[in-house]
Amino acid sequence: MTQQPPSQPAICDYEGSAYRTDFWEGKGREYEDAVERLVLRRFLPRSGKRYVDFGAGFGRLIDEAAGFEEIVVMDYSRTMLQEAQARLGRSERFIYVAADLYKLPFAANAFDAALLCRVVHHLADPLAALRQIRQSMASGSTFVLEFANKLNLKAILRYALRRQTWNPYTHEPIEFVRLNFDFHPAYMREQLVAAGFTPRRRAATSWLRLGLFKRILPLRLMVALDRLLQPLGGLFPYAPQIFVESRVAGAPSALVERERLFKCPLTGAPLRRESDLLISAEGNPRWAIRDGIYDLKEPLT
Ligand SMILES: C[S@@+](CC[C@H](N)C(=O)[O-])C[C@H]1O[C@@H](n2cnc3c(N)ncnc32)[C@H](O)[C@@H]1O
Repeated sequence: MTQQPPSQPAICDYEGSAYRTDFWEGKGREYEDAVERLVLRRFLPRSGKRYVDFGAGFGRLIDEAAGFEEIVVMDYSRTMLQEAQARLGRSERFIYVAADLYKLPFAANAFDAALLCRVVHHLADPLAALRQIRQSMASGSTFVLEFANKLNLKAILRYALRRQTWNPYTHEPIEFVRLNFDFHPAYMREQLVAAGFTPRRRAATSWLRLGLFKRILPLRLMVALDRLLQPLGGLFPYAPQIFVESRVAGAPSALVERERLFKCPLTGAPLRRESDLLISAEGNPRWAIRDGIYDLKEPLT
């Protein structure tokens, strides 16, 4: 864990982590992966100009944005981005950006669609990050947020049986492990509205996330059942995982040109590219572009 200045919430730093092989590949999570993709196919627009996956990790879900002209793969961890780059390749279409969700480096009207999946549960200040995201999105754009749900059936049962001390019905987030939070659906809705989004549809997923079900049920049946249960998220959001599709109010507006995509995460000044650097009009601070990754985490000294 890196040390941050006191004003900045701590960051769950995945630098150097083996997230792909420790959590996904060969770890029996095909069901979770499949049901997340089902929701994204319902909630994300089929096509568009510029999509961003905030906290994209190794780029697991990027193929769900295949209909977009440009795809920004953004994460705090440079090694995660290197893995994403190795999987997806270096091309004009993919823009790899190392940055912090609390200090985003994107101009206004940068995106017409965005995803934040399996990331907000690491954020001690979700509203601060959601506000940053909102500032980069054009009017009429779509934002899909996934979060870990504290109001899930297992937590409700454990609380009723007094096997869990925290109350799943109260709205405040529960930090069950350092920098790992479960959120109440009503709380997350309030945060989205406070950040300037208009929440529309909600889906509940991973209803069958139990070792027993995985042992006795075929994957295809589990996914089909989950698909049937997902719409319950609107009225009965009791699954471990919730997705919310939100819009930015207003008619769709034109996106900023690619050359004006970045702003300085410290001063907000527009950045222009000069060789392998991004430079603001005042000249400082300057930011590096290394091996195809825009590094907007720390300025060059
Ligand atoms: C559990 S992984 C999820 C990756 C991907 N979204 C997925 O669903 O496969 C969480 C990711 O969030 C990133 N992350 C955590 N805090 C962040 C922050 N403050 N800014 C940007 N990325 C962050 C981590 O680096 C990590 O790659």
